[in-house]
Amino acid sequence: MLVLNGKAVSEKKRADIKSRVSLFKGKYSRSPGLAVVIVGDDPASHVYVKNKIKSCEEVGIVSFHHQLDAQTTETELLALIQKLNGDKSVDGILVQLPLPPHLSADKIVAAIRPDKDADGLTVENMGLLFSGKPRVVPCTPRGVIEILKYYDISMAGKNCVVVGRSQIVGRPMAQLLLLEDATVTVAHSKTPDVSAITRTADIVVVAAGRPRMLGADDFKKNAVVVDVGIHRLPDGLCGDVRFEELKSHAHAATPVPGGVGPMTITILLENTLVLAEKLQAGR
Ligand code: GUN
Repeated sequence: MLVLNGKAVSEKKRADIKSRVSLFKGKYSRSPGLAVVIVGDDPASHVYVKNKIKSCEEVGIVSFHHQLDAQTTETELLALIQKLNGDKSVDGILVQLPLPPHLSADKIVAAIRPDKDADGLTVENMGLLFSGKPRVVPCTPRGVIEILKYYDISMAGKNCVVVGRSQIVGRPMAQLLLLEDATVTVAHSKTPDVSAITRTADIVVVAAGRPRMLGADDFKKNAVVVDVGIHRLPDGLCGDVRFEELKSHAHAATPVPGGVGPMTITILLENTLVLAEKLQAGR
């Protein structure tokens, strides 16, 4: 089985982003800027945000870290987003999800200027993706496509199954696969027999959020399996897929960690740079 090494793909791509950032700086005498907003103290979110900030530094993107306490009101958070929307040193805005339960992610995301939406989650950017004219797209699904392309795994005409229908992964993933001319099926928590669907697939992207949910029996022999899940269990990190079982069954699969995860941040860096270039071109 071929191990799809997202970390290696990511390193190669970050080197390219770093040189593009350096050209940007030469041209505009400033660095692209990403504002990262986190509300509350969810430990996993803190780890992700720390990694995002460190990765920005490594490629020369400035980051502005806004840590707000768990009791922050909607009015306060909206006021911060308005301020970032108008700040010329900020090209991309990311609000780390999930938010505490008293805050509506839909309402907060809707306040982000679509031309500063580093996650591609606003209705405008999602609408562009769903109408086949993508601008900035959500980082994780874009990262999955790039891993498949890096390994020359063609999607055109293939039966691709996405497990999960979240705003941030499942739905945009299905649209990106469609744009690659795949035949796409989305299975989710109300699908009566997920396994019957995944067994028909040439390529399966699993973003169910359930630790070790699927194993060899759930996939066709020689399928390509991409695991978006990441879970911290008492015995270590694992994905939504039982990776060990795939070794003598799948054609290729992503490990956890070291698969999709590193690519998510890499695409965030690229989205920020692309937004900065567009904003700069319009000035
Ligand atoms: N939480 C988990 N993944 C993500 C992501 O890609 N973007 C944001 N904003 N929050 C997340």
